[in-house]
Amino acid sequence: MTRPAVAGSRTELAELLDRSGSRVALVPTMGALHDGHASLLARARKEAGPDGRVVASVFVNPLQFGAGEDLDRYPRTFDLDLDVCAREGVDVVFAPTVDEVYPGGDPLVTVDPGPLGDLLEGEVRPGHFRGVLTVVAKLFGLVRPDVAVFGEKDYQQLVLVRRMVADLCLGLDVVGAETWRDPDGLALSSRNRYLSDDERRSALALSRALRAAVERAAYGLPAARWAAMAVLRDEPGVELDYLAITDPDLGTLEPHADTERPARVLVAARVGTTRLIDNLPLTLGTTEGS
Ligand code: PAF
Repeated sequence: MTRPAVAGSRTELAELLDRSGSRVALVPTMGALHDGHASLLARARKEAGPDGRVVASVFVNPLQFGAGEDLDRYPRTFDLDLDVCAREGVDVVFAPTVDEVYPGGDPLVTVDPGPLGDLLEGEVRPGHFRGVLTVVAKLFGLVRPDVAVFGEKDYQQLVLVRRMVADLCLGLDVVGAETWRDPDGLALSSRNRYLSDDERRSALALSRALRAAVERAAYGLPAARWAAMAVLRDEPGVELDYLAITDPDLGTLEPHADTERPARVLVAARVGTTRLIDNLPLTLGTTEGS
């Protein structure tokens, strides 16, 4: 198992990233890598091809954390992250310092996520997506990948990155990879490690609620929503931020018009002091009765 080369600066990255005409695939991460990230890295390898280069970035981006959020306690497990990257055949790990990414302090020019950045996650976490898109744009500029892989678990982030790449003509492919789950349904997240055993049991209500919505989707949006809410109401350990059913093809995540077409059900909630998000695809039907 070969350890990947580690670049801490832009110069090292440029030196280590031998392009020689091969495809470069990037997986941006904030570290604390788990099996979900491993699946993104495996997907990146597939996208890059055997002769291509896979780059993983590990950077806890202060710009996307609000006041009172978990920036300081966000898990940092760099040595273990390198093991995961080695197992998945990553060629280069880009792990810059905050000063390297933001040499002059907070940047004066940032990426405005537009109205989609104010919905759902953006409503609860103002400024979050400006921080995400700004660092992702910087990483794209530094690594210049042909393709970047993002997890579907952060669905709104994925939609926004796709919009940024299209609207700003950034000229790369963005691939969304399916959410990785524990056998009991909990979506893998670096933040799961904050959960006590009891909280983890409560957190299972999120994926149960999403599955309930999927099961009732044939009866239309109100029935799907009602089924999900019934599960969440039954779990006192979960404090709901939002449950939304939207049309992913709209690229806006605005409320869904109730017609027979693919949609996404998204949930965000606090379990203890931990904030979790999850989502699933579903197709809303028009079957009579509920
Ligand atoms: O999804 C994440 O881990 C982060 O939001 C990202 C894309 C690495 C940007 O900091």
